[in-house]
Amino acid sequence: MAQLHTRAAAAGVRLFAHQTIDSTNTEALRLARSGEQGPLWVFARSQTAGRGRRSREWISEPGNFYGSFLLRAPSLLGNTPQLSFVAALALHDALSALTGWAAELKLKWPNDLLHAGAKLAGILVEGEGRHVVIGIGVNCAHHPEPTRYPATDLAAAGASVLPDEILAQLSAAMLERLAQWDEGAGFARTRRDWLARAHERGSEMRVATGEREASGVFEDLDETGRLILRLSDGKREAITAGDVFPVADMTGAGRSGSSTASGRAHSPLTVLPHG
Ligand code: BTN
Repeated sequence: MAQLHTRAAAAGVRLFAHQTIDSTNTEALRLARSGEQGPLWVFARSQTAGRGRRSREWISEPGNFYGSFLLRAPSLLGNTPQLSFVAALALHDALSALTGWAAELKLKWPNDLLHAGAKLAGILVEGEGRHVVIGIGVNCAHHPEPTRYPATDLAAAGASVLPDEILAQLSAAMLERLAQWDEGAGFARTRRDWLARAHERGSEMRVATGEREASGVFEDLDETGRLILRLSDGKREAITAGDVFPVADMTGAGRSGSSTASGRAHSPLTVLPHG
């Protein structure tokens, strides 16, 4: 049975668990519109309309983890995009504890989690009014192919982890990372911990922003969470939102992780910068 960690339940976090639902993010936003304040988790064993970043479809068959955390936006609304990094760290903590792979799991800007360079999990942060929904999908038992960015799943990588175990571990880790972040006052520590787990810092990459592409060396994350690229002319460019690829991969089409670029049309919500 799906359950939150005892620490999360004791902190007043609630759980709405479903066998199947359209999208846990969509449901969390519906709950917020109906007056729910959070903090709460929406969990489902499958989704019929799972959503990835950039309006892509997130394939959501049973066996993988699908969960969304609804919380109040921070009092300084401008700090909300930092929640992408808070969530990525919580996910890294949770999966490290469940697999023992702390060193092998890496964070890819803006908010993917990789194992051996392949996408294992994705995060979709959406804001509406004074609420934020952090949606997380983890490939536990399967992953789609072909994908634009290489994808994998925990079972294929050699770990047997159930969605229920992720929910319990993640619900505790999320509270710990939120406390560290402290509504933005602790972002320096969040940023430091994120960079310590970052995929290929110092290597060359290509960022597709939707309008254009930039190639350069991944140098840093600035104090607001933007990716800092060092371009070939030596200039630094701060990127607010985009998809990151190794510089050798110039295809830029197809699926990403568990999401498909073909995507369905979705109503435009505020997908937060970096998200
Ligand atoms: C990405 O494109 O990498 C982000 C994927 C986020 C998928 C998760 S699954 C749970 C939650 N519900 C959704 O519809 N999307 C997120």
